[in-house]
Amino acid sequence: TGYITYDPGYANTGSCKSDVTFVDGEKGILRYRGYPIEDLAEHATFIETAYLLIFGDLPTRGQRQKFRDLLSEQELLHEGLRHHFEGFPSTGHPMAILSAVINALGCYHPDLLEIDSKADFLRAAAKIISKVRTIAAWSYRKAQGLPFMYPDPKLSYCRNFLHMMHSIPHRHYEPTDAQVRALTLFFLLHADHEQNCSCSTVRMVQSTEANLFASVSAGICALWGRLHGGANAGVIEMLEHIHEGGTSIPDYLEKVKNKECKLMGFGHRIYKSFDPRAKILRKAAHDMLESTGHDDPLLDIALEMADAAMSDEYFIERRLYPNVDFYSGIILRALNIPVNMFTVMFAIGRMPGWIAHWYEAYADGATKIHRPRQVYTGREPRVYVPLDSRI
Ligand code: CMC
Repeated sequence: TGYITYDPGYANTGSCKSDVTFVDGEKGILRYRGYPIEDLAEHATFIETAYLLIFGDLPTRGQRQKFRDLLSEQELLHEGLRHHFEGFPSTGHPMAILSAVINALGCYHPDLLEIDSKADFLRAAAKIISKVRTIAAWSYRKAQGLPFMYPDPKLSYCRNFLHMMHSIPHRHYEPTDAQVRALTLFFLLHADHEQNCSCSTVRMVQSTEANLFASVSAGICALWGRLHGGANAGVIEMLEHIHEGGTSIPDYLEKVKNKECKLMGFGHRIYKSFDPRAKILRKAAHDMLESTGHDDPLLDIALEMADAAMSDEYFIERRLYPNVDFYSGIILRALNIPVNMFTVMFAIGRMPGWIAHWYEAYADGATKIHRPRQVYTGREPRVYVPLDSRI
């Protein structure tokens, strides 16, 4: 079988060449298409960031307007898709619904299962980026037994999502500017992170020449796990457990050190000094609560926990720091997003990144099918034993 390099978890395997995102984990640097994440977080909108990731440059005013118009055109779901929501039990996990309905979009747009031109790609990408909000919000409405709220084309991307989540007939939900800014920041900071598990999944599925809907639907499934996007819900569950008196911070850290559980929202395969996204979100969570006059005791617990962990030998030795998921849940709670929707929120934010990577691989044309090898550790050849002779 030839020589095979054993690299569990692909920690040292470059699976592709990519122009999209640069990460230097030693220095805590993250750039989208060359722009530092700190600059984008301060100045850009989520839609500009999505455009940047997918097309390579920030849009001009005209390009941004055109992209916005395209997203508004695509925000409605086909009425046939309503039946899909009705078919799910109200206890169905919103990540399962999101992945299923995004994949089902392909049934409603069969002309886009094959992408023949840049215009086709743009239409498919806009459909997914726009409709993912509607699908996410409707999965929540279904679970709550609330009527579906249709998108409002007059609203910006983030306001429209909050409207579909929280408005009720004849009572329009009006988020504050600080809430909209915090949601923009949340989506923007999650928009891409090079070859993480879900992005690599999208690229792996794409490498078989599978369509965009199926590929990003697979990305959603990969994101769901608690070691990846599911960590943001895990963090809040952990902080709530401490808040409700289930355990204390020192006792929890002791359990972590005894390997009985993990400190959720800590550690990263690449970042070994700090995660720049966590740094921005820590400040944003703090600022947002201050500006809205909200007080969230979980933020105090999170800050105390982070400080305790970062001065503890176990975490220092292993170079474990808060990651993007550690503070993001505080922001989502202040936006009245329920915990089981947290990973869905991550998926909405990550969608432009998945799409940018799918297109990069597709446009390259020379991408080989992803087909890792293994180190076989099973039995040597043996002779078939007839059923009656087995003991
Ligand atoms: N709590 C306690 N110990 C940890 C943690 C943690 N959160 N993370 C890593 N370690 C320990 C791990 O047990 C190992 O210890 P030892 O050397 O004694 O065996 C050492 O640190 C190295 O960890 P690893 O598991 O080899 O690291 P990895 O690169 O394979 O895993 C990770 C990275 C993010 C999966 C892991 O740090 C983790 O499970 N963190 C908690 C879940 C989490 O917050 N995930 C979100 C990641 S960032 C956003 C995203 O990508 O979705």
